[in-house]
Amino acid sequence: MKRNILVTGGAGFIGSHVVRLFVNKYLNYNIINLDKLTYAGNLANLRDIEDKPNYTFVKADITELYEMRRIVKEYKIDGIIHLAAESHVDRSIKDPFTFARTNVMGTLALLQAAKEYWESLPEKYEGKRFYHISTDEVYGALELTHPEGVPAPFTTKASSMDDMAYGTEFFLETTKYNPHSPYSASKASSDHFVRAYHDTYGMPTIVTNCSNNYGPFQFPEKLIPLFINNIRQGKPLPVYGKGENVRDWLFVEDHARAIDLIFHEGKIADTYNIGGFNEWKNIDLIRVIIKTVDRLLGNPDGHSEKLITFVTDRLGHDMRYAIDSRKLQSELGWEPSLQFEEGIEKTVHWYLENQKWMDNIISGEYERYYEEMYKNK
Ligand code: NAD
Ligand code: DAU
Repeated sequence: MKRNILVTGGAGFIGSHVVRLFVNKYLNYNIINLDKLTYAGNLANLRDIEDKPNYTFVKADITELYEMRRIVKEYKIDGIIHLAAESHVDRSIKDPFTFARTNVMGTLALLQAAKEYWESLPEKYEGKRFYHISTDEVYGALELTHPEGVPAPFTTKASSMDDMAYGTEFFLETTKYNPHSPYSASKASSDHFVRAYHDTYGMPTIVTNCSNNYGPFQFPEKLIPLFINNIRQGKPLPVYGKGENVRDWLFVEDHARAIDLIFHEGKIADTYNIGGFNEWKNIDLIRVIIKTVDRLLGNPDGHSEKLITFVTDRLGHDMRYAIDSRKLQSELGWEPSLQFEEGIEKTVHWYLENQKWMDNIISGEYERYYEEMYKNK
């Protein structure tokens, strides 16, 4: 079936993997990538598919309702996968307003534009879908009841080397929202608006909440790409607090595969948690990264350990995130494709092989390129 799918935030980290997957897999779909190209958006993430006939890029800001109305109508959009957002917790602590504007008002503008367009059609909401990508951070933080780790109660292909859990509780789809950072508060608010558009107007919506992603094309302000790059350059590795916080890591292509499955087969008005049962204490993960980068660079084992630098903790730093994704696994048959060891190896390898991509970001080269490109538009 021919479809016109709008992916917002498609020039960002996860969005670019979603766009690539859909463009390559669904030759009968038109994939419209809508992105404002903030500091986090980078069209170099999509070089391999940018000339495909079923791909279109539109530079636009989701907070501009008139623009959203125009675009949704002009491209006859029948499905939306909404990833555009401000996504970095540290930035949200410094500038919460930008997060409220983009994540809350932007999501609302997109919902409203889709509502008006879809309600104007004879078939109305039939065959339409508004899929909102959210985060596990909306659920708040879990306690570290087992700081040394206990055998994880669920095992999947993505389990970590030691297969550990650091607490007995996990985030379920039914866990009460309890966001702590301005970022997670803005995402929680946007989730509520999406559900409200279903409950009030009957819009066919779906929300998913995913754990920490890692993999190629992640902006190097986030832990894994930042640390890989700093090790390469012999720079300090700023570990917040004591490095005891726990995150649950999923390879980004596995998230993109889950999004594909849920977009097509997920139940309207439902929520799915996405995660790989792959908990890591920051300091342990950092040691794995150091080991892998050192090995691939030909440094002696332990060479870059000296770069570890404990710094002041993030304000309100959530202690532990751990997703229970059994609903997605049992209802839709999704499971992560990679063992964590393979995922980290692939990721480190990619960043070391693509130093130019990283260097362009760090030097600001890529932003200057867009300023030039869009100067007269
Ligand atoms: P990212 O910061 O790498 O990319 C965000 C993209 O959105 C960028 O391309 C940016 O230019 C675009 N954007 C920002 N503001 C915009 C606006 N006003 N209008 C149009 N485009 C705009 O983020 P990411 O890590 O790829 O995350 C994507 C989505 O997934 C976000 O909604 C995030 O909350 C969610 N999420 C991320 C993770 C993760 O670990 N990275 C985990 C779970 C959920
Ligand atoms: O859980 C999903 C979330 O994961 C997404 O919703 C967010 O968009 C995404 O950015 C990510 O949030 P985190 O705050 O968990 O990711 P970050 O990479 O910023 O940090 C991971 C952990 O590492 C966290 O405990 C903070 C710590 N950290 C981070 C940085 C950047 C450090 O110790 N030092 C650092 O320099």
